[in-house]
Amino acid sequence: MSKLKIGVLASGRGSNFQSIIDEIKSKRLNAKIALLITDNPLAFAIERAKKHGIDYLVMMPKEFRSKDDFFIKIAEELKKRHVELVVLAGFMRIVRKPLIDAFPNRIMNIHPALLPAFPGLHGQKQALEYGAKISGCTVHFVDERMDTGPIIIQAAVPVLKDDTEESLSERILKLEHKIYPEAIRLYSEGRIEVRGRVVNIKGYNFSEAFITNPDVKKNPE
Ligand code: GAR
Repeated sequence: MSKLKIGVLASGRGSNFQSIIDEIKSKRLNAKIALLITDNPLAFAIERAKKHGIDYLVMMPKEFRSKDDFFIKIAEELKKRHVELVVLAGFMRIVRKPLIDAFPNRIMNIHPALLPAFPGLHGQKQALEYGAKISGCTVHFVDERMDTGPIIIQAAVPVLKDDTEESLSERILKLEHKIYPEAIRLYSEGRIEVRGRVVNIKGYNFSEAFITNPDVKKNPE
């Protein structure tokens, strides 16, 4: 089977970007990252792209007449490289219609909470402050509103008594690095079916695979 061509959009550290690179390198994911686009010239994601010989572009909205123009140009650059799936990996902007129309149900995002709870910025902090007992992460397709598109995979972690935003984020991030490459792999195998807002994945049992407590010891007291 031919390799799935991916375009990644990232604004910062890029650890999710790295988890996809690693999965490709280890041949568990039959894909090629054709391009990284970042809106932040200081993003560490750029260093990762350089290290792994991945083409990248720095594009900032202020260089364009309008936000729509910014996303039109992003769509053009992705299409030029025959990208089939767009992956938002810590891309801190709301994607606008021109890019969504260019890639319908072909843009994925990862969010650090169990959507539809705690959308937007600082999903982990929101969960802590709300007093949620379970949180996690969500991979979903992107639509025109923030964090509302069809859900592909979710993974849950407990919120612990002494958690801080940092400790909860760290626990969630470990799962992000598992479920994001997994969602892309399922897509690359043609196993994702979208009906309305419901995603069906052929031959897949979520609850066994992804409800997990990665670092909670039994009887910690
Ligand atoms: C991740 O935790 C991701 O879920 C979150 O930003 C972080 C990026 O980390 N995304 C959002 O909050 C989107 N609303 P990374 O740059 O190391 O991948």
